[in-house]
Amino acid sequence: MTTDTLLIRRSGPLHGTASLSGAKNAALPIMAACLLTEEPSLIENVPRVTDVLSMVDILRRLGVEVTFAADRLSITPGGFRGAVAPYELVSRMRASICVLGPLLARQGTAQVSMPGGCVIGPRPIDLHLKGLATLGATFAIEHGYIVGTAAELRGSRVHLGGAFGSSVLATANVMMAATLAKGVTTIEQAACEPEVVDLANCLVAMGARIEGHGGPIIRVEGVSRLRGVRYRIIPDRIEAGTFMIAAAMVGGDLTIDGARAEHLGAVIDRLSEATVAIEKRNTALRVRASQPPQAVDVTTLPFPGFPTDLQAQMMALMAVARGVSVLTEKVYPERFMHIAELNRMGASIVREGSSAIVKGVERLSGAPVTGSDLRASAALVLAGMAADNQTELTGLDHLERGYQHLEERLVRVGANIQRLSQP
Ligand code: EPZ
Repeated sequence: MTTDTLLIRRSGPLHGTASLSGAKNAALPIMAACLLTEEPSLIENVPRVTDVLSMVDILRRLGVEVTFAADRLSITPGGFRGAVAPYELVSRMRASICVLGPLLARQGTAQVSMPGGCVIGPRPIDLHLKGLATLGATFAIEHGYIVGTAAELRGSRVHLGGAFGSSVLATANVMMAATLAKGVTTIEQAACEPEVVDLANCLVAMGARIEGHGGPIIRVEGVSRLRGVRYRIIPDRIEAGTFMIAAAMVGGDLTIDGARAEHLGAVIDRLSEATVAIEKRNTALRVRASQPPQAVDVTTLPFPGFPTDLQAQMMALMAVARGVSVLTEKVYPERFMHIAELNRMGASIVREGSSAIVKGVERLSGAPVTGSDLRASAALVLAGMAADNQTELTGLDHLERGYQHLEERLVRVGANIQRLSQP
């Protein structure tokens, strides 16, 4: 638990090159996928963020050997017998749920603590349980734990559409379990996120038979066993989007090394509409901005729609835009904890159900603010860079869940941020 504070002052224009870490949301399910074989795997380009360290703790608690050096994770399941993901670890990170499928496939049994509440809104796991039950698993909820058993998983047709569309980790869980199930599984309304594709590519490199990943219908033909793998994780598109919005907020000419245009189509579209210049390069994106952006409306949707994980950062940008914009949250309708903090910095944002009406203001004003969740914290860093006076951001544990040394990398391209460490 850090008690550090970020002191953020008006910054920019940003210039030079920022480089990306590997994608947290690809690393987590890929670490769980390593449970599907007894052989050792080496996963590269893994971000050193606290969510990854939490998954390392869960794997170790299951009896798996894990070493993490630089950005390389060596994972050796061997004959691990563990099947329990305990409350104290799962409550730290909801994504722990993605060990459920691999445990059922490898051990035929799993006990995973029910994920607790989340500030970004209700996050049920009904699609995970429904999908795995369709493959033959049975579940009971006992003492706050999901207790699953599967004498044998059998391939089947699984429809994974929920009230808010597809589910990223439910798709991951069912796809992983199906790799070792008897027969063919067809996942309908599967999530199409690049992180799901990265997981599928890693599973195929382990010997799985998967087709259609990246589209809404994924076909998995079960095999008897998988092998260990050496795999490099994709760059983090949400981190890339955060840097792009930073440059749009304070102006500048910033190149984001490793950013992939095909992962950021909706983001590029919205920022271009807001008069931010974006140049696509082979392995990078160049962002240039020299004036406050034009206000644009944004609606979050599952990929390839605009990512909900960039909604807060985009709201910070629209808070200093020319005109009025409407941001509608179609994935997590309650994901608006950042509005109050942005308004404390002089923004003019009104919430209407699952939308926020943002009236752009000339200038934000620095204030003491607290991050309520990972992406809200990133939005407050960006708002602080576009504000007069000083912003003091606390609650940095949230930020460190998904960004590796974010402030240092922003300072390297021209931001004015200092970390104040408490003794
Ligand atoms: C993944 O979470 C990401 N996390 C989230 O990123 C991201 O916000 C989310 O996908 C959506 O893009 C990881 O990959 C580790 P979902 P996930 O299941 O898989 C509803 C970040 O900031 N739903 O796709 O848990 C759910 O309530 C994090 O890095 C059900 O109704 O999200 C939501 O409204 C935050 N039943 C919608 O579907 C279910 O069983 C999408 O959730 C599962 C989900």
